[in-house]
Amino acid sequence: MTTRPRVVSGMRPTGQLHLGHLVGALKNWAALQEQYECFYFVADWHALTSDYADTSGIAGYALENVADWIAGGIDPERSTIFVQSLVPEHAELYLLLSMVIPTPWLERVPTYKEQQAQLTEKDLSTIGFLGYPLLQTADIAMYDGRCVPVGDDQVPHLELSREVVRRFNQLYGDVLVEPQPLLTPVPRLPGLDNRKMSKSYGNTIDLTDGSEAVVKKVRQMYTDPKRVRADIPGTVEGNPVFIYHDAFNPDVAEVDDLKARYRAGTVGDVEVKTKLAAAINAMLEPMRERRREVMARPDHVREIAVEGSRKARAIAQATMERVRDAVKLRY
Ligand code: TRP
Repeated sequence: MTTRPRVVSGMRPTGQLHLGHLVGALKNWAALQEQYECFYFVADWHALTSDYADTSGIAGYALENVADWIAGGIDPERSTIFVQSLVPEHAELYLLLSMVIPTPWLERVPTYKEQQAQLTEKDLSTIGFLGYPLLQTADIAMYDGRCVPVGDDQVPHLELSREVVRRFNQLYGDVLVEPQPLLTPVPRLPGLDNRKMSKSYGNTIDLTDGSEAVVKKVRQMYTDPKRVRADIPGTVEGNPVFIYHDAFNPDVAEVDDLKARYRAGTVGDVEVKTKLAAAINAMLEPMRERRREVMARPDHVREIAVEGSRKARAIAQATMERVRDAVKLRY
């Protein structure tokens, strides 16, 4: 048996995955398989924290997302792919954590008030939403997860997870492992309109988009607004079209040439965008191909998730034995 350190990470199944997920998480998840024993899961209960009023899409997106993970290089033979709600032990650990954590700890997490202020169309004054980072702590601690690959927006959650584990251990002995964030070293991609990339803004390129959709979306991308004609010198820095070129176009010489001509006012947006769409499509095409193969057998995707959940559950059950002993709930 190898004892590679464990990585745990999850995604909420609230929609199709887009390029932000690919560069922000999925590529990194795939790379981590080399060095770590990885547990990647569909955080369907976490999706409920904000989407409890309409749950109809969650299970469908869960399987679609798993197909994207596999297409993106997550190997179900090497990594455990599972569904949170198929491992109900997560709920039990969450409950035990909730007994010892003061609510102000959770109210202080910056995303808590931010999200409540932003998502005004949803009532997020629920216990479930407040408890989001506690459930996340249970997800990780369940597998003795040491490393948690997350974006920088998730660091406060991880900080809280560490405090929660410390308090639990203070009360009941050394039962849970303190997790560390494993920061994903990628720049944040803006949305097509230069706002934050988000499904709710409709400014994403999805991994399921076909090549024509990509061409169309790239054509509508926001660029330097001051450059109303092709012969006006433009700004490259912070320009979404060039941020995307840097992220997706492997032909560095082509990108450098486009940047130089953009600055000089000797290239049209059409050329810059046509080359960008081609680069994105070249990168996505092998994933589309693999996704088509995977989705040709949807039952197989479900089996992978169910089988992975069975494996995860065996570990979770062992952890909960240990936890119940520590809490002295042994009958
Ligand atoms: N909060 C994470 C997100 O929205 C999803 C998540 C739930 C997660 N549980 C986790 C990530 C455990 C890492 C580890 O992106």
